[in-house]
Amino acid sequence: MSVLPFLRIYVPLNALLAAPGLLAVAALTTPDMSGRTRLALAAVLAVIWGAYLLQLAQTLLKRRAEDVRDRPPAIIIDVLAVLVPLAAYLLVGAPDWSLYCAVWLLKPLRDSTFFPLLGRILANEARNLIGVTTVFGVVLFGVALVAYVIERGVQPEKFGSIPLAMWWAVVTLSTTGYGDAIPQSFAGRVLAGAVMMSGIGIFGLWAGILATGFYQEVRREDFVRNWQLIAGVPLFQKLGPAALVEIVRALRPRTVPAGAVICRKGETGDRMFFVVEGRVSVATPNPVELGPGAFFGEMALVSGEPRSATVSATTVVSLLSLHSADFQMLCSSSPEIAEIIRKTALERRGAPPMA
Ligand code: CMP
Repeated sequence: MSVLPFLRIYVPLNALLAAPGLLAVAALTTPDMSGRTRLALAAVLAVIWGAYLLQLAQTLLKRRAEDVRDRPPAIIIDVLAVLVPLAAYLLVGAPDWSLYCAVWLLKPLRDSTFFPLLGRILANEARNLIGVTTVFGVVLFGVALVAYVIERGVQPEKFGSIPLAMWWAVVTLSTTGYGDAIPQSFAGRVLAGAVMMSGIGIFGLWAGILATGFYQEVRREDFVRNWQLIAGVPLFQKLGPAALVEIVRALRPRTVPAGAVICRKGETGDRMFFVVEGRVSVATPNPVELGPGAFFGEMALVSGEPRSATVSATTVVSLLSLHSADFQMLCSSSPEIAEIIRKTALERRGAPPMA
C-alpha cells in the first residue's frame, strides 16, 4: 500500500490537470484583463502546482530506490513540473512567471504509452527516414541554388543569396506557399511547379514510412500480447505452429467489466469468445458459469442462428474474440478444434431451452 494513499493522483487526472493550467497560462497572456480575473487564474495555477507538489511527494516517498531508477522520465517530469514554476515565481516574478507553468505540457507525456511507441517506430524506421530526409536536404539545397541563379537578377531582395532562396525553397517544397517570395521569371515558375510536385512526393514518403512503421509496431505488440493470452486457452494447444500464428493474428483481446452483457439472446452472432481470465454467466434456465479456457458464442457461428442465450461477465473478464471469417479459417486449418467446437455447440443445444 502507498505510504501516502490520500496523495495518490489518478494517472489520467494528472494529465487532465495540465489542461486548465495551460489554458490559464494562455489566458494570462491576454493584455486587457481585470486584476480580479488575473488573481483567479493565478489561483488556478497555484492549486494545480499544489496538486503536482503532492504527486511529487508521493512519487518520491512511495517508490523504492530501484523503481526510481526504473522510471526516470516520470520522476524528472514530476520534479520539473514543481521546480520550474517555483523558480520562475521566485526569480522572474510577475507577470512572466506564469509562462513557466507551460512546463506542464510535459505532464501528459509522463504516463503516455504513445511516446515510447513513437520512439520505437522512429528507431525501427530510422534508416528509411534518414534516407528521405537526405533526399529532402539535397533537393532543398539544389532548388535554392537554381532559384538563386535564375531569380537573383530579378528580385535580389528575395533571392539575392542561397540562404534567402532556401527560405523560398522550404516554403514551396512543403507546399505551404506564404506568398512572400514568388519567382517572376518563366524559368523560376517552372522550377516552382516542379518543386511543389516533388514536395508532395517527399512528404508522402515520410507519411507512408511512419504509417507503415506504426501499423507494424502495433501489430507486433498485439501479436506478443495475444501470444501470451492464448496460453490460457488449452484448446489452442492442439494447433500446429503455422495455424497458431494465424489464430494469434486473428484474435482480438477485450476486457469486460463485471456485470456487463457480452452478447444478448436473439442478436445476430458474428464472433465467438474464449475466456482467458475471470468468469461469465450464461443465462440458460439453469444458469451456467464458464471460466478460464472455456469458449462461448460458437452456436451462432456453427448454426447461423441468432444467439441462444444472453452471456454476461460475472467478474472482470479477459476475453479473446474470433470473427466468423477467422472462425472458418480456424476450422479449415484444424479439423480437430472444429470438431470440438461443433460437438460442444450440439451438446449445449441439447440443454433445455430458456423459458
Ligand atoms: P450463442 O448462441 O452464439 O450465444 C450464446 C452462447 O451461450 C452460446 O452461443 C453458447 O456458447 C452459450 N451457451 C448456450 N447454452 C449453453 C449451455 N447450456 N451451457 C453453456 N453454454 C451455453
